[in-house]
Amino acid sequence: MTEPERLQKILARVGVASRRVVEDMIADGRVRVNGEVAELGNRADAETDAIEIDGALVGVRPDTVWYLLNKPKGVVTTASDPHGRPVVLDLVPPEPRVFPVGRLDMDTEGLLLLTNDGEVTHRLTHPSYGVEKEYLAHVDGRPSRGALRSLREGVELDDGLTAPAKASTVGDDVIRLVIHEGRNRQVRRMCEAVGHPVVRLVRVRIGPIADRSLEPGACRQLTVDEVRTLERAVVERPPRS
Ligand code: URA
Repeated sequence: MTEPERLQKILARVGVASRRVVEDMIADGRVRVNGEVAELGNRADAETDAIEIDGALVGVRPDTVWYLLNKPKGVVTTASDPHGRPVVLDLVPPEPRVFPVGRLDMDTEGLLLLTNDGEVTHRLTHPSYGVEKEYLAHVDGRPSRGALRSLREGVELDDGLTAPAKASTVGDDVIRLVIHEGRNRQVRRMCEAVGHPVVRLVRVRIGPIADRSLEPGACRQLTVDEVRTLERAVVERPPRS
């Protein structure tokens, strides 16, 4: 058993909505605890009580947090950096301690998940689960149809042939590339290999998670629905090997 906590605190922490909005939900009678309509000020035990919003059970794992960060260029995807460069952990709340899910190069921008859920992290980063990552690669030159075809079919890199990717252009010099492997500097190396070095790289989607309104440097908690879709994305497709 954990210490009972105020309902709005529990629900805000797991990303249902801000504390203010959760308070309104409680005041409007939308929240039940063990079948009883909750009132503002009620406390609950996040581990043992059944908490529902609008009749849907909230799968509350009280100790698990998920952040979505829009990583700016120049920030390193590690917990600390011996050269004193800014790191992604500077951009999320310090407690509870979370870790990045996979990594983006220092010069790559865009979406990065951070969590203390080790099991889902493992599945999200393991290539056999095949979770898609979508990138916008601003490149040198105008990619030809042949270059896109090569990206789709697989590119020979020094660590082997890449798996087939989804590739299309957005405007003249931006490639939208969707891959499900996670090799080091993979997108940069793939684009270089087809004759179009990357000048700017932005990750815009991780599996089902995207957010076009998150400003560079900003982070937010995933909503309960997002965590569920993420968990579904990695349980419904078991490892191939
Ligand atoms: N591919 C890259 O080249 N860099 C990243 O940061 C991510 C994918």
